[in-house]
Amino acid sequence: MNMHVWAMFLLLVCAGFVPAWADEPTITVLVAYHSMGGHTEKMAQGVLEGARSVPGTQVLLKRVGQVTAEELFSSDALIIGSPVYWSNMAGEVKTFFDNWQFKFGVFPEWKMRNKVGAAFATGGQISSGKELTMLTILAAMLGNQMIVVSGGGAFGASATTEGDSPGIDEKEWASAKELGQRVAEVTWMVKSPSKR
Ligand SMILES: Cc1cc2nc3c(=O)[nH]c(=O)nc-3n(C[C@H](O)[C@H](O)[C@H](O)COP(=O)(O)O)c2cc1C
Repeated sequence: MNMHVWAMFLLLVCAGFVPAWADEPTITVLVAYHSMGGHTEKMAQGVLEGARSVPGTQVLLKRVGQVTAEELFSSDALIIGSPVYWSNMAGEVKTFFDNWQFKFGVFPEWKMRNKVGAAFATGGQISSGKELTMLTILAAMLGNQMIVVSGGGAFGASATTEGDSPGIDEKEWASAKELGQRVAEVTWMVKSPSKR
């Protein structure tokens, strides 16, 4: 842009004109996870891709211990991923939930109320706690009056990471993307029903 165009633009902005592209609505999806061996982190990246595929969606990807109060409370949706530890969520993820009150002061205002929430998990073996892990994550969200959704599977997206087919296979990766996409779509419906 040359000087004259810039000057005109600044004049219009000062006069209260907001260009259409600057007024585009967005939603923010926070994807938070714990991972020691990288499997849950890889699923988190799939979730991120899926959410980002929905236009106008910003995605923040963070380890649970690095999420700030500002990031948590300013997000429109939260998708939490955990490895299965003894048929349940990892202690780091539970501590994250507990810190919503201890560090962030979620009550008495119900600061997470009506945000969309979802879960994903990775576990070493088949039938050894992935669904329980997702359900306990969803239970903590329900306790905070969040709007809980599934996607990629009945309770969220999951992967079996040890045994005959170690790592994250194509179907599991696709389920992570499906979850991210569904959460973004539902968040748009909740936030802006007239636009979607
Ligand atoms: C302390 C501990 C407990 C575990 N308990 C289970 C379990 O109960 N069921 C299961 O399927 N996998 C269990 N696993 C395996 C992990 O869930 C699995 O390897 C997971 O994919 C690790 O995720 P990450 O690579 O993101 O760290 C356990 C692993 C650890 C370290």
